[in-house]
Amino acid sequence: MLRLGFIGAGTVGTALAVRLSSKDYRVIAVSSRSQTSARKLAQAVSGCHALNSNQAVADTAELIFITTPDDAIASVASEIQWHRKQSVVLR
Ligand SMILES: NC(=O)c1ccc[n+]([C@@H]2O[C@H](COP(=O)([O-])OP(=O)(O)OC[C@H]3O[C@@H](n4cnc5c(N)ncnc54)[C@H](OP(=O)(O)O)[C@@H]3O)[C@@H](O)[C@H]2O)c1
Repeated sequence: MLRLGFIGAGTVGTALAVRLSSKDYRVIAVSSRSQTSARKLAQAVSGCHALNSNQAVADTAELIFITTPDDAIASVASEIQWHRKQSVVLR
C-alpha cells in the first residue's frame, strides 16, 4: 500500500486525508504553512504525523497531495526536491 502525504492541511486536504484513511489508505504525513493546521489534521487521521516542512513530507511519502490554495501550488511544488518514482496530485 502506498504511503500518502498531504501538503496543505485546510478544508480539502483534511477532507481527503480523513476519507482516504477511512478507506484504509495509509496517510502517514502532513505539513502545512502552520504547524497548528498540520497537527489538527494529524490528530484526525490515525497513523498520520505532522512534519515541520513540505520537504519532509516529500521525503517520507510516495504519493503526495498538494492541497494548498491554487496560487501556492507552483511555488510549493518547485521548492521541493522530488524523488524518483514519486507521484504528486495537484488538487
Ligand atoms: N473547499 C472546497 O470545497 C474547495 C472545492 C474545490 C476547490 N477548492 C480549491 O482547493 C484549494 C484549497 O482549498 P481549501 O478550501 O482546502 O483551502 P484552505 O482551507 O485555505 O486550505 C489551504 C491550506 O493550504 C495551506 N498552505 C498555504 N500555503 C502553504 C504552503 N506554502 N505550504 C504548505 N501549506 C500551505 C494552508 O495552511 P495553514 O492552514 O497552515 O495556514 C491551508 O491549511 C483552493 O485553491 C480552492 O479554490 C476548494
